[in-house]
Amino acid sequence: MIHELTNPLTKTLVTHLRDQRRDAVRFRHTIAELTKQLVYEAFHDFPLLDRTVITWTGELSCKTIDEESIVVVTVLRAGMPMLDSVMELLPDAHAGFLAMKRDETTHESVLYYDRLPDCKGKTILLVDPMVATGGSMIDALELIKSRKPSRIITLNIIGSPEGLDVVKSAYPEIDIYIAQIDEKLNEDKYIIPGLGDAGDRSYNTV
Ligand code: PRP
Ligand code: URA
Repeated sequence: MIHELTNPLTKTLVTHLRDQRRDAVRFRHTIAELTKQLVYEAFHDFPLLDRTVITWTGELSCKTIDEESIVVVTVLRAGMPMLDSVMELLPDAHAGFLAMKRDETTHESVLYYDRLPDCKGKTILLVDPMVATGGSMIDALELIKSRKPSRIITLNIIGSPEGLDVVKSAYPEIDIYIAQIDEKLNEDKYIIPGLGDAGDRSYNTV
């Protein structure tokens, strides 16, 4: 199921991202802030465990998410600020890395490196800011699924209706939390209006 955030603050931050004057530091910072909003939304019904902690008045049984049951998987490069942001909220979660590059002629994604921890029975948070054709996400999901997680949630900043339809049709059971669904793809498979190339904007490359 696709969950598009509607909070006015979310829309304001998306507008900041579209602004080409936003430099790389502020761009990554805004991606990170939006990621936190996505995490809060995605975890609204997450189960809580009891954990005993030593408080100022002694031992106390408190509620907590089982952070160690979570694997945050990022798609390099543009997903890096999202990974850092999730790990700030869930410092005991595990991190996994997928390196993919879209071939700008065929528009197809190519996976050239993966480093995933044990995903069996875990909740996976797959983070990538852009869902354009959906090709990168489909490849990532196929690999992650083969590692037998119990649940997969994706966190994305901007998506095209075309790309999201492709992902939803292939993996209807997955929850997609996204800050903004845009209008369409252009002939070069960039999202319109989108924000350009998220990796380039994050790291000052063209
Ligand atoms: C971007 C983005 C996604 C992919 C989306 O990465 O981070 O991974 O494009 O496009 P798709 O839905 O058509 O597959 P890109 O290949 O530009 O790499 P980068 O992060 O290194 O810039
Ligand atoms: N990757 C991006 O970073 N932006 C797009 O619009 C499409 C793919």
